[in-house]
Amino acid sequence: MRRGRTLRNLLGLEDISADDIRRLLLSAAGFKEILSRPVRKVPTLRGRAMVTLFYEASTRTRTSFEMAAKILSAEAINVAVAQSSVTKGESLQDTVRTLQALQMDCLVIRHHCSGAAEYAAKKLDVPVINAGDGRHEHPTQGLLDLFSVCDHFDRLDTFDLRGLTLAIIGDIAHSRVARSDAWGFSKLGAKVQFAGPKTLMPGDCRSLPVTVCDDLKSGLEGAEVINVLRLQTERQERGLLPSLREYSRLWGVSGHSLQWAKPGALVMHPGPMNRGVEISADVADGCHSIIFDQVTHGVAVRMAVLYQLMGVEKE
Ligand code: CP
Repeated sequence: MRRGRTLRNLLGLEDISADDIRRLLLSAAGFKEILSRPVRKVPTLRGRAMVTLFYEASTRTRTSFEMAAKILSAEAINVAVAQSSVTKGESLQDTVRTLQALQMDCLVIRHHCSGAAEYAAKKLDVPVINAGDGRHEHPTQGLLDLFSVCDHFDRLDTFDLRGLTLAIIGDIAHSRVARSDAWGFSKLGAKVQFAGPKTLMPGDCRSLPVTVCDDLKSGLEGAEVINVLRLQTERQERGLLPSLREYSRLWGVSGHSLQWAKPGALVMHPGPMNRGVEISADVADGCHSIIFDQVTHGVAVRMAVLYQLMGVEKE
């Protein structure tokens, strides 16, 4: 598989071009075929080592990076931060430089501080992949969301999303997924609209390529795709919401509210879900939900990213 021009790091979708995004998605489409084989193993990255360093919890992202690396025959080393020397006060700089000294070929990092992945990239000579930094970006989630939509609408050949509207609903202020999706979908031509409570809207919305809507009905209007965000209570100061019950009533995506979107609109959620809060169980499990397809596509997308970043330089 051809890699085309090589990316040095993957820190966000704001920083990379539409062509770079299309190249990664095209590569993921090729890797998706490998996932359906009886033996899911290719020698592409044999002899290389990917390290995951997650300062925050994860099920989907960390596991799918590990699966992606193993299918490509790379070593996958997961640093358990809670059992690492981070607990003795070791700095981020010393931690990542230590991992580089151990001869890792790529670092996948999740951190609660926006900008942590970029900081690590400045300290290292090996590629860095941002697996989520604070409220900033989660670029591989953005890519897998794009891949899932292109796959559903049969656009895995063009990756052209002109004419499509994506509604992103809920806790936008704390969401790195909202930012990566806003950049990624708009770069491929889609219209992106945000809707959520005023207290959960970021202050810098005007610098993002989105339209902001004041209520759920207008946020869903015209949307062929809805991305429902998790209410990130762990990142919220007190007083942003009167109650979960009121949030669910005004902003929860349910069978009733789906009537405001285009008929048959796709429903996505990056996970993990708060069922009964931002999304009702019948919508999460309904026939228009592609929530678990997103998870599956995450493996192919992360294979493509690892291949782009860890490819052939050592040979
Ligand atoms: N979507 C996402 O990042 O999920 P995890 O936190 O489980 O990795």
